[in-house]
Amino acid sequence: MRQVQTRDQLWAVLRKWRRSGSRIALVPTMGNLHEGHLALVAAARECSDRVVASIYVNPAQFGEGEDYERYPRTPDEDREALEAAHCDLLFAPSDRTMYPGGLADATCLQAPRSLSAILEGAARPGHFDGVVTVVSRLFNLVGPDVAVFGEKDYQQLLVIQRLVEDMGYPIRVVSVPTVRSAAGLALSSRNRYLQDEQRGAAEQLNGILAAAARRVIESPGRWQEAEREARNSLEQSGMRVDYVAVRRAVDLDRPLPTDRDLRVLAAAWCGGTRLIDNRACRLG
Ligand code: PAF
Repeated sequence: MRQVQTRDQLWAVLRKWRRSGSRIALVPTMGNLHEGHLALVAAARECSDRVVASIYVNPAQFGEGEDYERYPRTPDEDREALEAAHCDLLFAPSDRTMYPGGLADATCLQAPRSLSAILEGAARPGHFDGVVTVVSRLFNLVGPDVAVFGEKDYQQLLVIQRLVEDMGYPIRVVSVPTVRSAAGLALSSRNRYLQDEQRGAAEQLNGILAAAARRVIESPGRWQEAEREARNSLEQSGMRVDYVAVRRAVDLDRPLPTDRDLRVLAAAWCGGTRLIDNRACRLG
């Protein structure tokens, strides 16, 4: 696996691949890779000839007081994991490569408010603007045929699908189901912030969302009760809830009686660690 840092280095590799007609897949990450990321690389391999993984902790998507400074950075382990997963190229740009004029004065994108001001976006204002800004830069720099994202960040996935549609990128977005620990905890780089005594509570999140999804399937009209029950269960497990919401899978709007494809989404604090997770909920 090759590793490049600058635009010129990246383009030199990509030019050769394109000349030989290779289909290129991009897996954007912020590093500290786990099995969830490696599942994205595996999916990318299946639908392309060449896989590029990017590692960049994007300052633009972190709010004030969030964990940008302490976000885990493990470049050596990440490189080894990508090699083992048969990734072809690691693009690990510097801030200067991603924001040549500095972030404060950068050209930035704004994610559509209908998707970005709710749920994660309400709890983390500006987060999705930072995500679409960096992802569009990665798309422009790499020019992939395919880009792979995890369903764990379900709202992000929808925001990126809209980015591709709105900006007319000729890129197929592939989504990959959430990878979980044996106890059901969705894998996340932030799980390493959990203290040992908090893991038990964190592991309940998935089960509580699965129970909410079952409740909605049994009584579709009573999705608000399912939300309330899930919130109570999370609080009883000792978590502080940012939101629990049953939404339409397609646009995260509130469900209408005719909707069949829903999603239960939640964000909750387990001590100082913020967890997010979601479950599909298909009716009838
Ligand atoms: O999901 C992530 O790791 C990040 O939000 C992404 C898509 C790499 C953009 O920085």
